[in-house]
Amino acid sequence: MPSVSSKISKPRTLWVCQECGTTQPKWVGQCPGCKLWNTLQEEQPAPVGRRAALGLSPENRPVALSDVEPRPHERIACGLGELDRLLGGGVVPGSFTLVGGEPGIGKSTLMLQAAAQMAAQGHTVLYVCGEESVEQTSLRAKRLGIKEKSLLLLCETQFEAIKHHIDHAKPDVLVVDSIQIIYRSDISSAPGSVVQVREVASDLMHLAKGRALTTFVIGHVTKSGEIAGPRVLEHLVDTVLYFEGEKHLQLRLLRVVKNRFGSTDEIALFHMEPNGLRDVLNPSELFLEERARAVSGSAVVATVEGSRPLLVEVQALVTASPYSAPSRRSTGVDQNRVALLLAVLEKRVGYTLAQHDVFVAAAGGFKLSEPATDLAILCAIASSLTGKVIPQSCVLLGEVGLGGEVRAVSRAEARLKEAAQLGFKEALVPQRSAKNLSASLKQTIRCIPVAMVEEAIEVLWSLAASAEEA
Ligand code: TYD
Ligand code: MG
Repeated sequence: MPSVSSKISKPRTLWVCQECGTTQPKWVGQCPGCKLWNTLQEEQPAPVGRRAALGLSPENRPVALSDVEPRPHERIACGLGELDRLLGGGVVPGSFTLVGGEPGIGKSTLMLQAAAQMAAQGHTVLYVCGEESVEQTSLRAKRLGIKEKSLLLLCETQFEAIKHHIDHAKPDVLVVDSIQIIYRSDISSAPGSVVQVREVASDLMHLAKGRALTTFVIGHVTKSGEIAGPRVLEHLVDTVLYFEGEKHLQLRLLRVVKNRFGSTDEIALFHMEPNGLRDVLNPSELFLEERARAVSGSAVVATVEGSRPLLVEVQALVTASPYSAPSRRSTGVDQNRVALLLAVLEKRVGYTLAQHDVFVAAAGGFKLSEPATDLAILCAIASSLTGKVIPQSCVLLGEVGLGGEVRAVSRAEARLKEAAQLGFKEALVPQRSAKNLSASLKQTIRCIPVAMVEEAIEVLWSLAASAEEA
């Protein structure tokens, strides 16, 4: 017979992966969920039965689908045009949005600006600045030129206290900066651990849904994974925005990766200035503005980010290599893609690059991830190698296959329209895409269909020769 004491179990602990949130009863070296090593940490599971504590009714019955009247979403404008566009025309009241990004990228700045704009429209906004003191946040607000009466600051990190202030102040909009610093006192895990982050977020979520409180939650993402990734929250929230960019450059990219009230895969561009973030309304001009006049190795591609065409300059530099194993480097362009395009240039066009170093970069810190940019990268390399200049008025489109064929791209019409608007005169277009272009577009920009890379290069050099003569 088992003794009584053996029935009294110890408080159970769980081993939680700090990257993906997978739980294990025992420690293991490699997480079975995300396959990363040494990411499991011991944590106490959260106490159950908190619905009543959150002031939610225990009753919730199933309803017939036909009885549900969908309410039209009246949206609150955040005042930053690009952010509103990204969210699908403003934020939906009662929705829950996660704003992720690396430390120092500008999340607090963005949210403080949006909070101020919403306060200016007459909404009561509570900004919980757990990471910085009220003075620090007000200094930042001064820098941004904000002095709103209905913007309330609260420096607090304990969840219960924050909830108390929400009950009191009854805000319409809540901003939590950041989720990793807020803790629930009945959970023994440290703030920022997966259990804390997940429980605090799900409580905030219940508050948001129960009271139609529009909530923005900031979460840090680090590559090393020391801090529980906001990825464990993605399934919980309505909208996920990620803030990206090179810290030393001024350009910031806000990407929507999940959106229950609008489209995803959209991006918004911002410029970080001494007095805050500013919308970038004509991004193509931004990526092209520093383009040097007539140099070899420069090509312009019309890429698409989300629903939006963007013109970006690709630069290549090909130099004689002093080493037996030449170096191939790229920034903003996938290295493997460059290697593949070099092989196509050698085999299909007949250029020899074995004794050359090749460097490829996308201008402005932009990342080109689309196959439609292949032809431009390839031609930029060919241009640098031969010293022939691609005409400034020419834009290039097309995916390149291993056989040297130029493949069709999606949304060719929209890309070329953007190029025409910016004053481009000629475009090299994959043959199959060229068939579907409208007549009105062809009047504004000369579309030259190409089927193979060697043909594209030939067309390009004859364009270059006639441009030189002119
Ligand atoms: P911040 O919003 O604090 O980043 P996060 O909350 O994501 O950690 O922004 C930090 C950087 O932004 C900081 O390096 C200074 C810069 N910045 C500006 O360039 N202009 C401004 O108006 C503000 C407020 C910050
Ligand atoms: Mg911050």
